[in-house]
Amino acid sequence: MSAILPPSERLWWKQPLDRVEGTWILIAFIWCMIMFAMMVGWHIYGKQNLSTETYKTSREMYTAKTQAMVDKYTVRTETDKKIPVVRPPAGSDVYLIARLWDWWPVLELEKDKTYRLHLTSMDYNHGFSLQPVNINIQVVPGYEHVVKVTPNQAGIFSIVCNEYCGIGHANMAGRIYVK
Ligand code: CUA
Repeated sequence: MSAILPPSERLWWKQPLDRVEGTWILIAFIWCMIMFAMMVGWHIYGKQNLSTETYKTSREMYTAKTQAMVDKYTVRTETDKKIPVVRPPAGSDVYLIARLWDWWPVLELEKDKTYRLHLTSMDYNHGFSLQPVNINIQVVPGYEHVVKVTPNQAGIFSIVCNEYCGIGHANMAGRIYVK
């Protein structure tokens, strides 16, 4: 059989498997199994993929929780858009909204304290990319993602959107302060 010309036997897949072909399939299968085991291994030992809990939510429910946090813990506002900077108590649940085209509100967290960071989108898929530490999480509308975070260095961290979401995508940036 040639790789370029059409097979002479139309039912070529009914021909017996060649030994070389079988060997390659076996090698590929074993490699797939190794990669599969490595995904789990990386998750545990390599700190590559974050463990997230995910729940169904609605815009109304999620907005209410975020607004409650903002009302209670806002310490100041920033920029002309008066984006609230929220300093929730250490160890609490903190909420972040992704929408066309910003991350709301700005969070101010304490170093070495653990928080439960909640994320959702109000409209389309967005990507939570925390720089410069390079943490990436898909933010999907209708779902509430919860990530346990313990910031271990102080500084200003930028959130950029890394999921194309329209004309304002490039300007969709947010901020997290760690003090
Ligand atoms: Cu949001 Cu791109």
